[in-house]
Amino acid sequence: MDRRPIGVFDSGVGGLTVLHECLVTLPHEDFLYLGDGARLPYGPRPLAEVRRFAHEIAGYLQEQGVKLIVAACNSATSAALPELQERLVVPIVGVLTPEAHAAVQATRNRRVGLLATEATVASGRYEQLVRTLDAGVRLFSVACPRLVPLIESGDPFGAATTEAVRDCAAPLRAAEVDTVILGCTHYPLIRPILQRVFGREVTLVFSAEETAREVAETLARKGIENAGDREGEYRFLTTGDPELFRATGARFLQLPLGGVERVEVRTLARALA
Ligand code: DGL
Repeated sequence: MDRRPIGVFDSGVGGLTVLHECLVTLPHEDFLYLGDGARLPYGPRPLAEVRRFAHEIAGYLQEQGVKLIVAACNSATSAALPELQERLVVPIVGVLTPEAHAAVQATRNRRVGLLATEATVASGRYEQLVRTLDAGVRLFSVACPRLVPLIESGDPFGAATTEAVRDCAAPLRAAEVDTVILGCTHYPLIRPILQRVFGREVTLVFSAEETAREVAETLARKGIENAGDREGEYRFLTTGDPELFRATGARFLQLPLGGVERVEVRTLARALA
């Protein structure tokens, strides 16, 4: 039995879609979630910078005594996962592989779309993963820089979001994809808008459930699970405004949000993994 919490991180509230599934799948585990609100969005930043942020946060979470880290951010996973796996002592789970796998399995016409941040698209990681699984699948990638700021805003379900989604979807509809990877942990938060724009016949793939399953399997295989008869706790850290995080986070976690504390960016920078 291992009482240490699991660390989860994202640039903002997007990773809560992954945390939600982890809390449902692993109700007996404790979680520590870190949102890097002060440096959001990650998407438009150079990959090297996103990689440094990911190393700082993962290093900090490891210092806090977590037993496993979930990089609940596609941009951070794209930029940093292999290096983080090399440097960290604790295991780290990312969000790209489960999505690539699910998309390759779901597509019938072997035409798959990807909606993601600029950083994720620039990394080319999805192409590599999809190609490894099925070299006959064509991947059409679209960077959507407008979506994350809209989702983090006070009005994520407004007309501006629908318009931005229509613009991102247009090239994928023209390419006649039958499956679309929501390659950013923020996007499932506006899933109804996306599904309405693409139509029911297009399968939307996102990683939260698969990632939670991978976390559960990793804990079991390594024998580091907490006792199954307890109810776990979870708490939140943000480099941004805790009030803002609480307001947006409660809506998206769909579970009661406990304490939110502030952590300074310079504290993270000292923990570089
Ligand atoms: N939710 C993150 C991702 O999955 C980050 C989005 C951003 O900060 O631009 O890519």
